[in-house]
Amino acid sequence: MAKIIAGVGSSHVPAIGAALDNGKTEEPYWKRVFSGFEKSKKWMAQTKPDVAIVVFNDHASAFSVEMIPTFALGCAAEFPPADEGWGPRPVPVVMGHPALAAHIAQSVILDEFDLTIVNKMEVDHGLTVPMNLLFGQPKDAWPCPVIPLAVNVVMYPPPTGHRCYMLGKAIRRAVESYPEDLNVVIFGTGGLSHQISGPRAGLINSKWDKNFLDNLSKDPKKLTRIPHLEYMREAGAEGIEMVMWLVMRGALDDKVDEVYRFYTVPASNTAVGHIILENRKRAASKSKRIAREDGRKRPNAAGKSRQAAARKASSVFRRSGLPVRRRKRVNSII
Ligand SMILES: [Fe+2]
Repeated sequence: MAKIIAGVGSSHVPAIGAALDNGKTEEPYWKRVFSGFEKSKKWMAQTKPDVAIVVFNDHASAFSVEMIPTFALGCAAEFPPADEGWGPRPVPVVMGHPALAAHIAQSVILDEFDLTIVNKMEVDHGLTVPMNLLFGQPKDAWPCPVIPLAVNVVMYPPPTGHRCYMLGKAIRRAVESYPEDLNVVIFGTGGLSHQISGPRAGLINSKWDKNFLDNLSKDPKKLTRIPHLEYMREAGAEGIEMVMWLVMRGALDDKVDEVYRFYTVPASNTAVGHIILENRKRAASKSKRIAREDGRKRPNAAGKSRQAAARKASSVFRRSGLPVRRRKRVNSII
């Protein structure tokens, strides 16, 4: 069974990507930012997720104002970096996981969350910058496949924080009904407080940001009640990106272990926030996996036959495009 083992929250400031691409990481201004992610990269290297789900927003790169899906799930085999006006970033093409993405799409839609299915999409800094901050700068390939989930936070009305949180729970149900044994990490990106234009351009509200991070860790339901107006007033016009962190948080246990947090201001004109939250069941599942890899514990005959049956059923349904555990329900709808 696939499972979500941890969540990562990270700002996706475009200037961080530019600093990386132009070799400025050792400059004092940027070193302050990048040094805050050194521990995170070590954590990620040890965690070695099989798949990452990255909740991000497109900044008019893949979707123009002519078409703005509220929630768009990337089901393609690959997602090239977008040209954001100065050429695509020099980062590897993001490889997808079409089988798990199709499973999530179908499970979540049948769970009454109406996702847009995207079979071709370029991804901008909203996705690639957090990837760099957690996975470093690989030359040829990212270390794991990625399922992008784009959320509209650029044109009113964006989804509510509560809707995002509940979508996270639906994504978790989807992941946990996927028969393959995969460890999944989910990212929430964007924010923290910032406003790019207008009379309040440059707004940063550290007190509000830190309170958001505290509640994200300990009392996320409190955050689901924040209205759009409060994000705008307290965190600036672009602070609404923070609702995407609630998709990530909804996919985790109610009680989580906060293993790392970093906050600094400013980067460009934005507050940079970062948090790593682990599900508490993670330790057991990780040790079980390590034991299996070491050959200390192998599935018995009955277990092997169950796994073979699940693989067979999964391959049949992958060919048909339907998730295994939804078979009866889907058939009844068809
Ligand atoms: Fe953004």
